[in-house]
Amino acid sequence: MSANVSFSDYVASNPNLKYLFFGGKGGVGKTVVAAGTAYYLAEKLGRKTLISSTNPVHSLSSAFGKDIWGKGIQKIEGTKNLYAVEIDISDTIERYKNEIREKIYTFLKYADIPLDPEPFVDIATTNPAFEESAMFDDMVSLILKGEFDAYVFDTAPVAHTYRLLGMSKVYDLWLHKMIKSREEALSLRVKLSFRKDKIMEEIKKDPLLASLLATREKTEKGRMFLTDKKRTAFFFVTLPLSLPIAVIERFIGWVQAFDIPTGGVIVNEVLPKEEFDLKNTSPYIVNKIREQDGYLKIIHEKFPGMIRGYVPLFETEVTGLKMIARVAEALAKE
Ligand SMILES: Nc1ncnc2c1ncn2[C@@H]1O[C@H](COP(=O)(O)OP(=O)(O)OP(=O)(O)O)[C@@H](O)[C@H]1O
Ligand SMILES: [Mg+2]
Repeated sequence: MSANVSFSDYVASNPNLKYLFFGGKGGVGKTVVAAGTAYYLAEKLGRKTLISSTNPVHSLSSAFGKDIWGKGIQKIEGTKNLYAVEIDISDTIERYKNEIREKIYTFLKYADIPLDPEPFVDIATTNPAFEESAMFDDMVSLILKGEFDAYVFDTAPVAHTYRLLGMSKVYDLWLHKMIKSREEALSLRVKLSFRKDKIMEEIKKDPLLASLLATREKTEKGRMFLTDKKRTAFFFVTLPLSLPIAVIERFIGWVQAFDIPTGGVIVNEVLPKEEFDLKNTSPYIVNKIREQDGYLKIIHEKFPGMIRGYVPLFETEVTGLKMIARVAEALAKE
């Protein structure tokens, strides 16, 4: 079985690591571990780090014990290099709707189809991929600005993230088709026209084609950074329990299928054995520890060489910087 490289060693041996993602079953501590990681990168390694969340639940605000929502990028008080942002995708969704409306209007006008465009706008904008695509778009925008040394993405639960990952592929295929059919439609106009020079000029200015090309360029950039072996890593958070383990097992397969580099597994909420006098403690605790040992063994067998660290189950919830610093301490352990 290959040896596990600790989180700190992993980060040290991947000096170009810049984009870190966290996934796992709902409620396993993704936000907490992402925040601990961001703290580690910012305060221990001195990298200017941004932690961002596209989760509609205001989880970063809760983890940092500070209202971050809707305020843009916020410096975290009491740190030197840590910044946080909770991305509100509603503006992006609104912008999408307007763009789509414009495209449909333009298309119907070009094609000389006398129809009310609004029902088409509704159909085009009420699909489940719409939100994911807005999240993806906002994430790429953030990265393209390039203001930080490291970006930690606290992702939403698995199914959501899976769609988010899938979007980049699906969106690209869809755009490819759209661009092709637009080009074909326009070249047909050239063939049928007597004034080819004028039509060519028009093609170059075609707003629909231009906007499709711009969108494709952006998704392509997104796909490129998601699959960047040197700079990107996806981490999987689990508890020493059967269901969260099964979830990341599946999740790891998906991420690998998308060619996204995997950073490893972090086990959260591990009961600290040293806190208990096992000879004199209640059967309840003894049993719980025994159960945990069983699952820790399973984790070792299922994810050989992938385990990066363990975060103890603390005596309180993780809210506020002091607690987040303790998560970072746990991740810093060899
Ligand atoms: N190691 C820990 N010790 C004590 N409490 C913890 C620990 N890890 C997480 N918690 C608590 O468990 C709850 C869930 O954690 P968190 O919000 O990070 O999970 P999540 O995976 O991000 O959830 P969601 O899927 O809803 O985004 C929070 O109340 C958090 O404070
Ligand atoms: Mg969360």
